[in-house]
Amino acid sequence: MRSEELTSVLMHELQRYERKIELVDVGYVIEVGDGIARAYGLEGAMAGELLLFPEATKKLGREFFGLAFSLEVDSVGIVLLGPDRLVSEGDEVRCTGRILEVPVGMELLGRVVNALGQPIDDLGPIPYKQTRRVELKAPGVVKRKPVCEPLMTGIKAIDSMIPIGRGQRELIIGDRQTGKTAIAIDTIINQKNAEPPVYCIYVAIGQKQSTVKQVVETLKKYGAMEYTIVVSAPASEPAPMQYIAAYSGCAMGEYFRDNGMHALIVYDDLTKHAHAYRQVSLLLRRPAGREAYPGDIFNLHSRLLERAAKLNDELGGGSLTALPIVETQLGDYSAYIPTNVISITDGQIYLEPDLFYAGIRPAINVGLSVSRVGGAARTSAMNKVAKQLKLDMARYFELQAFAQFATELDEATRRELIRGERLVELLKQEQYNPMSLSHQVLAIFIGINGYLDDLPVEAVREFERGFLEFVNHRYPEIVHEIEKTKDFSEATEKKMHKAAQEFKAAFVARLEGRAEGEMSVAA
Ligand SMILES: Nc1ncnc2c1ncn2[C@@H]1O[C@H](COP(=O)(O)OP(=O)(O)OP(=O)(O)O)[C@@H](O)[C@H]1O
Ligand SMILES: [Mg+2]
Repeated sequence: MRSEELTSVLMHELQRYERKIELVDVGYVIEVGDGIARAYGLEGAMAGELLLFPEATKKLGREFFGLAFSLEVDSVGIVLLGPDRLVSEGDEVRCTGRILEVPVGMELLGRVVNALGQPIDDLGPIPYKQTRRVELKAPGVVKRKPVCEPLMTGIKAIDSMIPIGRGQRELIIGDRQTGKTAIAIDTIINQKNAEPPVYCIYVAIGQKQSTVKQVVETLKKYGAMEYTIVVSAPASEPAPMQYIAAYSGCAMGEYFRDNGMHALIVYDDLTKHAHAYRQVSLLLRRPAGREAYPGDIFNLHSRLLERAAKLNDELGGGSLTALPIVETQLGDYSAYIPTNVISITDGQIYLEPDLFYAGIRPAINVGLSVSRVGGAARTSAMNKVAKQLKLDMARYFELQAFAQFATELDEATRRELIRGERLVELLKQEQYNPMSLSHQVLAIFIGINGYLDDLPVEAVREFERGFLEFVNHRYPEIVHEIEKTKDFSEATEKKMHKAAQEFKAAFVARLEGRAEGEMSVAA
């Protein structure tokens, strides 16, 4: 071999030579229990980093991870993403440099998954193509655009008085058993006909398994599961899973938002989410603050809710709308978690037990409910009939309280009370009965134009039902126009009056006939 050859071979070998040293930060478990562990070492660990447990991985048969939760001077508090019995003291822990990711995409629609995005619905593995970090920074102001399209809930009282826009965050707040979940589920069911489509994510946090199962059954029954993902972290799951579920669901929603599509996410509920976080924090001996919650509880929820957004047109114009739910105790909405979430969201729908038990369902307290941005997204058709509705209703409830003590009322007040009573009746709505825009507009139209004022209150809902059917048959063009243009012309408005008068004449005649019939039976 000549010397030149030798050098070239050596050069070649040197070029290919790569030092194969893996630098991993390794630590050891010093304490484990209650779904958390503490490890010594791991100096380079980052907050929120995935940490691998090699021993537990062997026992489990697939990778066993934990999340670096609190970084302290000589140890790291770790939240375990699996059964803690597989981890024991002295086990090795390794940094991975990765952040927790969950599967995202269309393939998840129709599925029920756990907080890590793994299927729990017996429908086999999910053929997902993409994953996404559960914790991502929310889009900044330049990437956003004010809400401009309505997100119809199909619930008259909400779409008319507390309108929600795509990309908005609207809190549903109230005591237990006041119909909070019902509003969220009805909204999901109503997205069946949404154009462009709205994909839904229902995150169940800290609920009973049976309750979640019922929700899934309901969604299936109304054909809503096809476009919905259910993320379930029931009360039986360890607290860390309940805490992570909200972020996992959010990541799944962001996939739609960032790909120019629209999505709706329901967090049911954030009170239990805060409880789970408090539990984890206390176990890790973080200093406790107000109501024993750790100091960053506000950050916890704003980090989550800020990710709901309407993106600008350059970014595809997608949106993620959030409906967080918060449970109050005895109507105390000035408690810690409720006030926090109220201040992070763009408005709230406040539900009240008194109204609920009085049969006013949905039990919305009009005075305390507000939507701060959704008005801009309300359709013109709805604007025309519902502009005054919220004020009128709030005034009615005030007058009503006052009128209980008054002996004599002037004519104007009396008339307002009569109108209000009928509007309250008109805004009642059964569960699982979302209404189309045109039907909502027509219903409110007869209310605000006084067509119900001289009818008995008990007849209001029958009148509404009958009238909508009547218009469907006799004046289908009204329905078509409102559905197509989201507006109605003056000519159509005249026609709406004509229809109302025609139907009312027939309805009153029928009522009178019925009353006479009853009298003759009595005689
Ligand atoms: N609009 C409605 N009309 C009739 N019944 C309703 C209506 N909304 C809710 N309900 C009924 O009220 C009950 C409570 O509703 P829901 O479970 O939605 O309340 P919640 O506030 O979510 O309760 P929880 O605090 O237990 O989560 C249910 O039985 C539900 O069927
Ligand atoms: Mg509920």
